[in-house]
Amino acid sequence: MARFEFRSASAASVAADLLVLPVFEGPEPGPGVAEVDEVLGTELVSLLRSEGLRGRARDSLLVPTLGRAPAGAVLLTGLGPRDRVSPDTVRRATGRIAARAARYRRVATTVPQAVEGGLPEAIQAFVEGLLLGAYRFDRYKGSNDEEPHRLERVAILGARADAAAARRGIRRGEIYAEATSFARDLVNTPAIDATPEFLARTARAMAREVRLECKVWGKAELERGGFGGILGVGRGSGNPPRLIELRYRGGSGAPVALSGKGITFDSGGLSIKDAKGMEWMKADMAGAASVLGAMRAIARLEPRVNVIAAIPSSENMPGGTAIRPGDVLRHRGGKTSEVLNTDAEGRLILADALALLAERKPRAVIDVATLTGACMIALGEDLWGVMGTDDRVVDDLLAAGESAGEPGWRLPLWAPYRHQIESSVADVKNVGNRWGGAITAALFLKEFVGDLPWAHIDIAGTAFSERAGDYWPKGATGNPVRTLIGFVERQAERGRARR
Ligand code: BES
Ligand code: ZN
Ligand code: MN
Repeated sequence: MARFEFRSASAASVAADLLVLPVFEGPEPGPGVAEVDEVLGTELVSLLRSEGLRGRARDSLLVPTLGRAPAGAVLLTGLGPRDRVSPDTVRRATGRIAARAARYRRVATTVPQAVEGGLPEAIQAFVEGLLLGAYRFDRYKGSNDEEPHRLERVAILGARADAAAARRGIRRGEIYAEATSFARDLVNTPAIDATPEFLARTARAMAREVRLECKVWGKAELERGGFGGILGVGRGSGNPPRLIELRYRGGSGAPVALSGKGITFDSGGLSIKDAKGMEWMKADMAGAASVLGAMRAIARLEPRVNVIAAIPSSENMPGGTAIRPGDVLRHRGGKTSEVLNTDAEGRLILADALALLAERKPRAVIDVATLTGACMIALGEDLWGVMGTDDRVVDDLLAAGESAGEPGWRLPLWAPYRHQIESSVADVKNVGNRWGGAITAALFLKEFVGDLPWAHIDIAGTAFSERAGDYWPKGATGNPVRTLIGFVERQAERGRARR
């Protein structure tokens, strides 16, 4: 990974292979542009104008300095209207030029200075944009025909007085981006390799590396523990299920509890999906990957709060021993569910994990899952959905998502729909009618958390993308890893405020 550093040098004097400078819509020169104009003896924004560019969010222009400045080339980067520049503007603009910037060994920039106030957040967003925008998943490619990646050092320029805050922003950006890339790698890994045991092994190695406690439940232990949902969904696959528990000790008091859906492949089971797009169902463990990524970042950031995670993982396949429609499963804690559609499997494994977490008496429970096509229909690909029993938890998640550039939207946990999951043979059934599917899925999960403050995040739309975005290539987005980290950090702040 490239090394980031803060320097109080001026843009005109910094030695670098590439100098990335911001311009606002107009075009209007951003911080550092005037100094560089001076040494170049030209007006950079007029070059932009002569190319027909106005400094809007997608405009950029590469200008070689031909030996007239210590920097080899200048990359002008449009940020749009000056009064609307936010950390997320910086994250997205930086993400779009990241692949190009990564062709240079030493990069310097004034881009974070373009944000009014909140320098650490602006710097964090720049670091995230650059690292995440340059992310590639090429582990399965032989000859690397992609663009070369030479990036070694990145200097973020600013006033000496800001050095301490800037270094904090750099470190947070590195940790947030690295955790996001970690989750992306897991989600992008094909299901032939990313089995429940692979997730468990990866979690164990990660826990050892960042010093988290980790316990993996194998098949026999799951049987003894009464985890009928995780086992039932896994029955049709040759890859046995697992349950991964992680613990971070950072404070005193009841922990925040996290869970994430870890279906390593969702064929639908006997209620099989049609062929079109089924390849994306290798990403049905994105909730699990997000929680693993978030726990990794939490271990490195060391917030003053306790956090536990329980991540259920099964592969949903239609083998001869698979569960059938009409089967009844007994979950952890004793509640039963009637399986009317084996493709509504995520809630079946999460039920067990939520019941286990509830036993640990946490202060709040959050689960994350690629749970329903219905949520994707409702909110599209840019917004996750959240439903919960506690307004403060939901609001904190929405706020964390907003500042991470991973926004969500609240949907109702509408109690009158509860009758849709009433079963004639078991405590609940695993599907409602065709309408309001995101809500009935959440109501099913609610049955297993008791009366704890709880929120469920449906990431079916946001976890992966069929097209490249501002700072991700086609495939896994890493959403909502940074939301979860921010949420946990907020809980630590609340704990301090109470003391
Ligand atoms: N993993 C899918 C949901 C999904 C769909 C995620 C598209 C990402 C993109 C989930 O297990 C599922 O199959 N849900 C069903 C539930 C239905 C059978 C009640 C759905 O949404 O159709
Ligand atoms: Zn699924
Ligand atoms: Mn399914």
